[in-house]
Amino acid sequence: MKDPLQTAVELALASGRMQKDSLKEDFAIHHKGEINLVTDVDIACQEMIVSVMKERFPEDDIIAEEKPNLFEGDRNRWIVDPIDGTTNYAHGYPFFCTSIAYEVKGTVVVGVVYGPIMDELFVAVRGMGAYLNGNRIRVSSVRHLKASLLSTGFPYDITTNPDNNIDHFVDFLYEAQAVRRDGSAALNLSYVACGRFDGFWEISLNPWDLAAGALIVEEAAGKVTDLHGQPYRLDEPGWLATNGLVHDAVLALEPYR
Ligand code: IPD
Ligand code: CA
Ligand code: CA
Repeated sequence: MKDPLQTAVELALASGRMQKDSLKEDFAIHHKGEINLVTDVDIACQEMIVSVMKERFPEDDIIAEEKPNLFEGDRNRWIVDPIDGTTNYAHGYPFFCTSIAYEVKGTVVVGVVYGPIMDELFVAVRGMGAYLNGNRIRVSSVRHLKASLLSTGFPYDITTNPDNNIDHFVDFLYEAQAVRRDGSAALNLSYVACGRFDGFWEISLNPWDLAAGALIVEEAAGKVTDLHGQPYRLDEPGWLATNGLVHDAVLALEPYR
């Protein structure tokens, strides 16, 4: 039997190849909501990933973004986002990835994020550090908000949800050096891990957006909490990941509800 790390890397790379190849062709785009898309490529990548996981790890559970939701119990589980950055993918905007995490007894122990356009593979194993294309990475050493490049994202119900992050976004535009919103939470977290971003927050995420990227940040010596500075839980929607040095400054500025 292959080990989970090897399988996660193999599947993330294979999924990335499918995304890159399919980008040159026509693919169908469907709506899960008014602005929430899924393409045939999301579904094909997920089917490929899930079929290999089921064959190699038949005892494990799997949660993956595109239905059917395969979660059945509390055994070891895989947490999969076949394409994180689907809106980007649908428009040919080259910022998307596959995110795969492996959880043992409720703790994520492996996180893999692969962005095929930049050919960047982010990998972390709990207790063993974080790597980008085989090289050890760590978070930035920026200490002040005014020198920080932050990133964020917005929920798909932005027009109807009063807690839609626009207020926080505007505040940080004034207080940080700059703020980016580029449409892939898993890549945003990986960018915090390798020091490109100093912090990332979002108020409405799902476990598949975060599970792998959070471990990558932690293993790169970064800090991940909920939006109140408390230990995070995968089933909570609001998250803050930073280099650790600007964490308190971000929390102090924003009285998150
Ligand atoms: C989305 C992306 C985006 C974030 C959204 C996510 P998807 O995932 O990570 O950056 O702002 O909250 O839902 O739909 O592209 O897999
Ligand atoms: Ca996602
Ligand atoms: Ca997705």
